Amino acid sequence: MHSISSRKGIILAGGEGQRLKPLTSAISKQLMPVYDKPMIYYPLTTLMLSGIKDILIITTPKQQNIFKSLLGDGRKWGLKFSYAIQEKPEGIVQAILIGEKFISNNPVAIALGDNLFHGNDFVSILQSANATEKGSTIFAYPVKDPERYGVVEFDKNHKAITIEEKPKNPISQFAVTGLYFYDNSVVKRAKEITYSDRGELEITSLNQMYLKDNLLKVAVLGRGMAWLDTGTFNSLQEASSYIRTLEERQGLKVGCPEEVAWRKGWISDNHLRELAASLTKSGYGEYLLEILERKQRGDKSIS
Ligand code: TTP
Repeated sequence: MHSISSRKGIILAGGEGQRLKPLTSAISKQLMPVYDKPMIYYPLTTLMLSGIKDILIITTPKQQNIFKSLLGDGRKWGLKFSYAIQEKPEGIVQAILIGEKFISNNPVAIALGDNLFHGNDFVSILQSANATEKGSTIFAYPVKDPERYGVVEFDKNHKAITIEEKPKNPISQFAVTGLYFYDNSVVKRAKEITYSDRGELEITSLNQMYLKDNLLKVAVLGRGMAWLDTGTFNSLQEASSYIRTLEERQGLKVGCPEEVAWRKGWISDNHLRELAASLTKSGYGEYLLEILERKQRGDKSIS
């Protein structure tokens, strides 16, 4: 049996970002700003909020050094980062094949580097997915354009019965999001998957395997949740506006790794103060000092 703390995380940050060219001609999509931070901070904090600290970051060959200069080895945030390369974007399942040694005999969670989640109860949903040791947990979210995604069909007891990749005539509105929790059998399963007609190792094929073995839990993210796309000019701009609106209204940041690490007790007050010192001019550092002060004042409203 694995303890829940042993689950590893993978962020898949390869891809060509064709729909964001020329923004992505020289720089990866996952480094684009979503309001006040690089896009990858959002999936990173999603993994952190699940309780995951040991994370593999998979990038294109050209961009690896830029990710390294942004994120380092993770120690500044109480984490451990490793890096690997995906030569070509041949499907999400490749993350598992590339990460085989890293995963070793642990369970794993994979987060797509451009997926942004936010909302009520999300942290408890994540923690419960992380605590589920056998099988897999994926997340479904109602969208207007399900034909762009893997689509889940549920029976009347809310149990998933089929998943179809980019169906022409979607059977439901429920799209599979870019966050996947798997047990260790994922490594063996991933090796059995063959390339689809569009030349990818499809994550839907992997999820279908778990479904067939009755080991797939599909958690529905409801109306109180946002799952945002960041892959086109408009959706990137809208995601930035969404984050800005929330942050300005609440005085709380979304997707701030320094804050998550500190609230989890992975870094100390003093360490947070040091991190803040290098970021004060943008206001980001002032925010980190502000949350420290709020704690000292005994403000419990945001714990
Ligand atoms: P996509 O949106 O399918 O691809 P993309 O990001 O390259 O964008 P575009 O469609 O504009 O070309 O990928 C979703 C996320 O998963 C994104 O963060 C890139 C990542 N990804 C990989 O890193 N490797 C892969 O093989 C695939 C399929 C996706």
